[in-house]
Amino acid sequence: MICADTASPLLQVAGLRKTFSDGQVDREILSGLDFTLAQSEMLVLWGPSGSGKSTLLNILAGVLAADAGSVDLLDNQGSTWSYGQDDAQATTRLRRQLIGYVFQFFNLIPTLTVAENIELTIKLAGNASAGLRTAADLREQALAKADTLGLTSLLDMFPETLSGGEQQRAALVRALAHQPRLLLADEPTGNLDASNASRVMDALTDQLAHSGCGLVVATHDPAIAEQAHRVIALPC
Ligand SMILES: Nc1ncnc2c1ncn2[C@@H]1O[C@H](COP(=O)(O)OP(=O)(O)OP(=O)(O)O)[C@@H](O)[C@H]1O
Ligand SMILES: [Mg+2]
Repeated sequence: MICADTASPLLQVAGLRKTFSDGQVDREILSGLDFTLAQSEMLVLWGPSGSGKSTLLNILAGVLAADAGSVDLLDNQGSTWSYGQDDAQATTRLRRQLIGYVFQFFNLIPTLTVAENIELTIKLAGNASAGLRTAADLREQALAKADTLGLTSLLDMFPETLSGGEQQRAALVRALAHQPRLLLADEPTGNLDASNASRVMDALTDQLAHSGCGLVVATHDPAIAEQAHRVIALPC
């Protein structure tokens, strides 16, 4: 197991609350969640369907606003970005530069090829995310990662022509392309056979080891939970 650098908390989550309402009934999904994530640490979100794993990841990604609480993320320069209750627009720069997100349903851009989806992440991140690495370096690393995940022959294809498992692996390469500080993965092996699931987990843990990012994974897979430094169980 990779050693988490517990001396340097990368992410601090405090008092997160989220309630959804259908107009008649309120359903509290997160009721005051606190945790920290260290550099190189892998945290698993564990819980039955509907327990709030994707909701929490969406808040950590800055695409969904919590009702209360805060998320603090440390960037490469030692500055803290505070968010949690902001709308998605306010957190755009944060997401582009510091966060990589493998969505549960991939969310690849349908009008772009796999290669263009990856390239867009690098372009949107600009220079700030990966320190001194150039866009050319990032592109080279991403293409190497795509090769490891068996995607080289699919780079010029559009998402709708790929299988679910191929889209999932493409979404992973896209999420890693700008070397994010915080990597979020929502059931990243959900559509994969055992061999590809293992390649995906290797890619995620390799990223932890080499970049020092933090990783939060939502999963139902006990084999993934076993690899984690810590598991947060969300009640149903
Ligand atoms: N935008 C929304 N409006 C209303 N309810 C929502 C919304 N998003 C999620 N929910 C509800 O919140 C609950 C948690 O959903 P969430 O997608 O976070 O669960 P999950 O743990 O990721 O489930 P799964 O394992 O099936 O992916 C569910 O009951 C869902 O219906
Ligand atoms: Mg989910």
